Amino acid sequence: MEIQLWRELLVPYELAVQELIVKFEHMIKQYQQAGLYSPIEQVHGRVKKISSILAKAKRKGISNDEIKEKIDDIAGIRLICQFVDDIDQVVEIIRNRSDMTVLNEIDYIHQPKASGYSSYHINISYEVMTIYGNIRIPVEIQIRTLAMNFWATIEHSLKYKYQGNMPLEISQRLMASANAVRALDGEMSSIRDDVVDAQQLFREKAVMVADILNNLDNLHKQYASSEDAIKNIQEEFQRIYDHGTLDELQEFSQRLDRLAANRNTQSLTSV
Ligand code: GTP
Ligand code: MG
Repeated sequence: MEIQLWRELLVPYELAVQELIVKFEHMIKQYQQAGLYSPIEQVHGRVKKISSILAKAKRKGISNDEIKEKIDDIAGIRLICQFVDDIDQVVEIIRNRSDMTVLNEIDYIHQPKASGYSSYHINISYEVMTIYGNIRIPVEIQIRTLAMNFWATIEHSLKYKYQGNMPLEISQRLMASANAVRALDGEMSSIRDDVVDAQQLFREKAVMVADILNNLDNLHKQYASSEDAIKNIQEEFQRIYDHGTLDELQEFSQRLDRLAANRNTQSLTSV
C-alpha cells in the first residue's frame, strides 16, 4: 500500500486516540474538582507508526489486507495509576462506559509475561464519526502503575537496543527488577490508606478552621468593647492551630460555638 493511503487509513485512529485522551483527562479533572482522589494519574496515547505496523505484520505473518482486523493496538491508550488497587477501579470504570465496548481483557498483573512485563490490557471498540460515516475503531488500553511503567519503558529501550538478542545477564536483571517493582507496588499499597486518611483529616481540619474563623469574626463584632478577651481567644486558637491535636481543635471549636450561642442569648435577653 502507498504511504498516502496508509496516512488516510490512520486518520480515524488518530481521532479515536485524541477523543479518548480528552475523555480520560477530563475524568481526572472531575475527580480533582470534586475534591476526590483520582484513580488515574496520567493519560498517554499514540497511533502506532507505519513502520512499526508493518514490522508487527511481518513478524506475525499478517498480510496487508488483514492488518486492520488483526492488529488491535494501532490505536493505543496508556493509563498510569499511583497504586495497584487503583487499576481495578479504572477497569471497572471502562467496563461501565457506554461509549467503550470491551472486546477482550488480559491480566498481566496477576500473570506477568515471561519477560517480567506487568500491566492490565483492555481491548475496546470505540465509535468515531468521520466524513464517510461512523466507524468502530479497535483501541488497546494499557493500565499500569507508575512503577510498572518505569520498568516497561526501560525494558522496551533495551529490547530495541538488542533487537531480539538480549544478553541473558540483562534479561535476568530485568526479571529481578520486575520483582522489585512488584515489591515496591506492594509496599506503596499499604501506604495508600494512610495517604487517603491524611487527605480526609486535611479536609476535616479545613472545615473546622473555617468554622472557627467565622465564630471569631462574629465574636469580634459582638465583643467590640473588650479587645483583651478577643485577643486571648485568638492567641489560644493560634497555639492550638500550630501545636494542638485535631481533638483539641475540635474542643476549642465547640467552646467557641457555646460562647457565640451564649452571647446571642444574652443579647437577646438584654433587648
Ligand atoms: P505485541 O504487540 O507484538 O507484543 O503482540 P500482542 O498484541 O499479541 O501482545 P499483547 O497484547 O500482550 O501486548 C501488546 C503491547 O503490550 C505491546 O505493544 C507493548 O506495548 C506491551 N507489551 C507486551 N509485552 C511487553 C514486554 O514484554 N515489554 C514491554 N516493554 N512491553 C510489552
Ligand atoms: Mg494485543
